[in-house]
Amino acid sequence: MKSKYKILFVCLGNICRSPAAEIVCRAAMKAMGMGERVCVDSCGTASYHVGSKPDSRMLAALKRAGYEYGGHRARQLRGTTDGREYDLIIPQDSENERDVLTALSGAEEKVVPMKRWFPEGEKAREVPDPYYGGAEDFDEVVRLLERSMPQLVAEVARRLSE
Ligand code: 4NP
Repeated sequence: MKSKYKILFVCLGNICRSPAAEIVCRAAMKAMGMGERVCVDSCGTASYHVGSKPDSRMLAALKRAGYEYGGHRARQLRGTTDGREYDLIIPQDSENERDVLTALSGAEEKVVPMKRWFPEGEKAREVPDPYYGGAEDFDEVVRLLERSMPQLVAEVARRLSE
């Protein structure tokens, strides 16, 4: 059997945006019958929160949106091995993108910012960092990720059929 298509979401701390993207993406892939063909993971560019669970405010926002927490613990991006292992590496904002491109060696073509899959007419230019915000900012991140996921799922389906 063909090996799984591997997706890595990246933010700064790996406790808010990228674990949310991971959970929302996994659910979307499963709903589209692609759960067995795709492996979804997340990490952070920084080391501050390595080993931590997702931020409780993000877990609450995910719960409000109907998602189950899957036991994720934060880890830091490993430039060389992650660049080799994953097929698609998705930074959440432009700072994450710059840091990912600096850390990776020779896998730059695998890096596509999350905004690529934002729905048409979306005003945000990146996935905003909710860390210093309130509950509504966490809800907004989950909503933006949910609204972007159909476009990402379609792209991965296309890539898998090539
Ligand atoms: P994340 O959010 O990158 O979406 O996980 C943040 C987490 C931690 C910090 C900033 C943003 N921090 O400054 O510790």
